[in-house]
Amino acid sequence: MSYTRHEEALNFAAHPLLWALARMARHRRPCWRVPGLGVVVSDARMAREILSRDTEFTKNGPGSFASVISEGLGDMALGNMDGAKHRELRYALAEVLAPERAESIIRERRTDLYTMCDSLRRGSIVDIARFTRGWAGRIAFDVIGARPPAGEEDAASQELVRRSAGLSSILGFRKPSAGAMRKAAVDRDALAEFFRDAYRQPAPPRSLIAVLHDLQLDFESALGLLLIYAIGGTLTLSAALPRILALLIDSGSYRELVRNPALTSQVVDEGLRFTTPLPGTVRIVRKPVVVDGIALAASTRLIILTCNMARDPEYFENANRFEISRVYNSRAGRLWYGAGVHRCAGFSLAQRELKEALSVFAARVPSLRITDRRVTFGALLPAYRELLIDSSGAMHEWR
Ligand code: HEM
Repeated sequence: MSYTRHEEALNFAAHPLLWALARMARHRRPCWRVPGLGVVVSDARMAREILSRDTEFTKNGPGSFASVISEGLGDMALGNMDGAKHRELRYALAEVLAPERAESIIRERRTDLYTMCDSLRRGSIVDIARFTRGWAGRIAFDVIGARPPAGEEDAASQELVRRSAGLSSILGFRKPSAGAMRKAAVDRDALAEFFRDAYRQPAPPRSLIAVLHDLQLDFESALGLLLIYAIGGTLTLSAALPRILALLIDSGSYRELVRNPALTSQVVDEGLRFTTPLPGTVRIVRKPVVVDGIALAASTRLIILTCNMARDPEYFENANRFEISRVYNSRAGRLWYGAGVHRCAGFSLAQRELKEALSVFAARVPSLRITDRRVTFGALLPAYRELLIDSSGAMHEWR
């Protein structure tokens, strides 16, 4: 199967209807009115304008993701906030994932990558999807400033990601059923238990908990933020890294990266462009407005398809091809992280995580092969449930 088909299978397994809609919308740029759903935006320029004009296009309103985030995570979770309160909070939280802190967190977790690559070199088969979930979970604990129980670090990190995925399953275009909300509440309570004790103690400087202490938030008020950082920090990386690695192997580009490690940054950009881990987001029109000559009525729901923006032919030649030699188009911006005031708060960390992991792979394991894979069905972010890899005869190539 080609790399494109594997990627399609992942997207289809996660969101069969949305993926079919996204495919159709690619031919209906800049946007497409879909009765009962809203206006689907695929054009990168139009989408960026909407995301940047946050006073006219808000996160909240009927049919928004934000309203479901509020039900599941509480009112204060960044991704469901608008206006001055959101800006002030983003400003206060900036130090949690500032570049130097992201760098030092990754430095601490580098040995996990070495151990995993050593095990590949010894001939083991590694489930890179599982490894990434554990790695992302450990990093999320560090970002937040909590510790997994001693001796159970991997199990707790896996559990953190599993519960984050469970809680995120309520996010979608439809209001979740009462049963789904009850299940999500069980996951939310389990996640809260990971952080409750840590919240009572002094936390490591610049960690999320330390900043929330400075803001004098009690645990219940802070919980939404702890949860959104756990979800945002773990599910994105768990989706992105295995998919990018699979793309490299399936397309035959992994060897090129091994030969030329200077390509790592380009691989991260191209890998995120091609996979767009967060396939879409939603904004609501606050009052009647015209964008790109298109009139939008108040309360219209805008479904902004990041996955289509990243394939906009105006910005990306041969957009449906995964080409690691593609030079990053600064005119387009890294749209897969969003734009405007809600642009991803974890940008610096995510970039470093991916660069670090891919450069350790390329430096230590000259050849990789996928021995088996399974996709996740119904996940918020299309992801591999299992991606088994080995070093396929790499022994012969070591010096
Ligand atoms: C490859 C990895 C990632 C991708 C592609 C990604 C993508 C995005 C996108 C597109 C948004 C904006 C959504 C919108 O406008 O509605 C966003 C927001 C956010 N991301 Fe990420 N993200 C990634 C990694 C991370 C990490 C590692 C963290 C935290 C440790 C994180 C935390 C957040 C938070 C808290 C928000 C909400 C920001 C706000 O609303 O002000 N993300 N992300």
